[in-house]
Amino acid sequence: MDQAGLDQLAADLTAQGKSLWIRQANVAREDEVGTLFQDFVAEHGGIDVVVNNAGITRDGLLIKRKDDKTLRMPLQDWQQVIDVNLTGVFLCAREAAAHMVEQGTGGVIVSISSISRAGQVGQTNYTAAKAGVAAMTVTWAKELARYGVRAAAIAPGYVSTEMTEAIREDIRQRIVDQIPLGRMAAMGEISLALRFVIENDYLSGRVLEVDGALRI
Ligand SMILES: NC(=O)c1ccc[n+]([C@@H]2O[C@H](COP(=O)([O-])OP(=O)(O)OC[C@H]3O[C@@H](n4cnc5c(N)ncnc54)[C@H](O)[C@@H]3O)[C@@H](O)[C@H]2O)c1
Repeated sequence: MDQAGLDQLAADLTAQGKSLWIRQANVAREDEVGTLFQDFVAEHGGIDVVVNNAGITRDGLLIKRKDDKTLRMPLQDWQQVIDVNLTGVFLCAREAAAHMVEQGTGGVIVSISSISRAGQVGQTNYTAAKAGVAAMTVTWAKELARYGVRAAAIAPGYVSTEMTEAIREDIRQRIVDQIPLGRMAAMGEISLALRFVIENDYLSGRVLEVDGALRI
């Protein structure tokens, strides 16, 4: 969604002598996802790996008592997170699987879940989506194995990214205090796990947790 960020990434990698193909698309839009995959395959002749990484948060309690009133999580906050974090993963995985199966050369679909999938205060919408991502991963691994397509997920704990930098400093510190390894993950530690999942041809239908021992 972030065209300026994509342009910057392209500039940085081009300067390092690497090449990449960039395209802005909303993963929650069926038409945009369909075109994105079609155009990619037309340009590159096929697709081997898809990483479902796009995600958002709209945190809030299911209900909150304030000044003798009961506030409710807005349906819009529920729906936006489900649209991007669950429907977006479904749409991208569906298009990826269709192209991989048509190619007949197998492939791997990796989706980013979260340790929040087990339940987390203030995240009804996010936890529902991330639990759904974990369950869909198992389903796809079973359905697509006959075509040589694997599906797996990674469940990070807390990672230093724009998403967590947006958390209020005192709350952020309280989170870090609870992580046995005493810090959030660096992005490179998640991409290392991603690489392992992509390269290991016997890994499918599982959720790999990379959380500094946070989840009990
Ligand atoms: N940061 C963490 O601590 C953490 C922990 C567990 C899981 N995750 C998951 O990791 C993934 C990446 O998170 P992050 O921390 O890098 O977040 P981020 O906010 O830094 O980046 C999210 C990216 O998703 C893109 N995006 C948002 N909505 C989109 C849409 N509708 N279509 C296409 N792209 C869209 C944004 O442009 C952005 O580039 C997410 O799925 C997130 O839920 C993050």
